[in-house]
Amino acid sequence: MNKPIGVIDSGVGGLTVARELMRQLPNESLIYLGDTVRCPYGPRPREEVTKFTFEMVDFLLQKEIKLLVIACNTATAFTLELLRENLTIPVIGVIEPGARAAISVTESKEIGVIGTIGTIESKAYPEALHHISKDLVIYDLACPQFVPLVERDQFSDEAAFDVVENGLLPLLGHQQLDTLILGCTHYPLLHEPIQKVMGNHVEIISSGEETAREVSAILSYQEMLNESETAEKHRFYTTGSKVVFEQIANRWLDQPIEHIEEIV
Ligand code: SIN
Repeated sequence: MNKPIGVIDSGVGGLTVARELMRQLPNESLIYLGDTVRCPYGPRPREEVTKFTFEMVDFLLQKEIKLLVIACNTATAFTLELLRENLTIPVIGVIEPGARAAISVTESKEIGVIGTIGTIESKAYPEALHHISKDLVIYDLACPQFVPLVERDQFSDEAAFDVVENGLLPLLGHQQLDTLILGCTHYPLLHEPIQKVMGNHVEIISSGEETAREVSAILSYQEMLNESETAEKHRFYTTGSKVVFEQIANRWLDQPIEHIEEIV
């Protein structure tokens, strides 16, 4: 069971999940594919996101992954069930783990969810949240301006604060809201301005940590954990510029990445 774990995302956002996987499962190796050249997936129709996601999955299946993490909320919302039906390996999305984490911390039971247009229109979060607890008030909001900011590596710029503040304005009137789910894996890179705009009374939830816990539980339960002394090196692939990808990855991950390749 020394095969790698496959991770896909529309771009660099899934690195926020990869970081948690590396932290919680240091003995495992990852193969990450970011479809940077076709990012963002959020405004694209369901059929297109499904096609792109299956193309990415095909690439990773050729690398003989033992488990697939869809580290993209839009792709999770549109393809999780389909992938589970079609693949023989375990497939983990990021929506259920994010919903579980939010429910475990909210006290007021008023939860905000921000995501791409695709994720918010799919209603995947309200469904996942209400599936666990009916007793919740949910405010969901699409923030389509956030992903391009991250992919352009401008998430730490001064201007990022204004974009975030404008995007979150509709949520600021909900006084009882005490928990905000970052329903897009790109958004944790904007954690600082998001926290500042929402205020410290709001708990910000990113699904990476809970997703990694789920991966760990499944690998352990199915006796698929890597048992060799040394894990293979992580491998990262991008359909876009290796330079920008590497810059963001080196800043975001706790360790430098050694293998990174552009693919077409
Ligand atoms: C996007 O590609 O628009 C964002 C990815 C996500 O939904 O997590």
